[in-house]
Amino acid sequence: MALNLGVLVSGRGTNLQAVIDSIQKGSLEAEVCVVISSKQDAYALKRAEKYGIPHYCVLRRDYKRQKDFEREMVNLLKKHDVELVVLAGFMTILSPYFVNEFKNKIINVHPSLIPAFCGKGFYGERVHKAVLDYGVKITGATVHFVDEGTDTGSIILQQAVQVLDDDTVESLGARVLKLEHELLPKAINLFARGKLKIEGRRVKILD
Ligand code: GAR
Repeated sequence: MALNLGVLVSGRGTNLQAVIDSIQKGSLEAEVCVVISSKQDAYALKRAEKYGIPHYCVLRRDYKRQKDFEREMVNLLKKHDVELVVLAGFMTILSPYFVNEFKNKIINVHPSLIPAFCGKGFYGERVHKAVLDYGVKITGATVHFVDEGTDTGSIILQQAVQVLDDDTVESLGARVLKLEHELLPKAINLFARGKLKIEGRRVKILD
C-alpha cells in the first residue's frame, strides 16, 4: 500500500518534484495526496497543479492566531488521509500543537549538516552564505524528524559535500540541493517501508 504524503512548501518546490519523480519512477511507493503552500506565488503550487495533486495555499496573515493557521493545515492534511507530512522548503516554524498532531510523522529536509547552520534564521540560501562566511570545509544535507524545536529532531539521513575554494552561494547551494533530491525520497521510502526505528535521539535503519 502506498504511503499517503502531505507536502508543505513555500517556494520553487524542487524537493517536491524529486518526490514526485521518485514515485513516477517506481522507486518510492507513496502518493502525494495534498500540497499546501504558505506562499501564494510558490512555484511548487504549479508543480502540484501539473500533476493533478490537490493543492492549497494557507496564509498566516489570514488567521489571527498561529494555532488557527496550523489548524487549517492539520484539517486539510487529515481530510486527505495523510500518513506522513513532508516539509520540503517550508519556511514557517510549526508550533508544538502541529507537531503533536503528527507525532513522529513529520520530516524536514535541511540544507546543512545539522546541528551546524540550522535553527531560527537558517533557511534557504542564508544557510549556504553562513557556511561560506564561516569557512567550513564540508557541509551537506540532512533529513530529520520534526520535533517541537527548530531543526532539533532526530536525524534520519545525512550526507556531506565538500566546500570548494571558488564556491559561491549558488554553486554550493546547487550541489547541496542535488543531495537533498536524493536523500528526501530515500528517507520517505525508509519510513514507508517501516525501516526507521527511533531510539531516543537516534534513528536506526533496519535491514
Ligand atoms: C531547500 O534547500 C531546503 O533544504 C530548504 O529550502 C530549499 C527549498 O527548495 N529548506 C530550509 O532551509 C528549511 N530550513 P525547494 O523549494 O526547491 O525544494
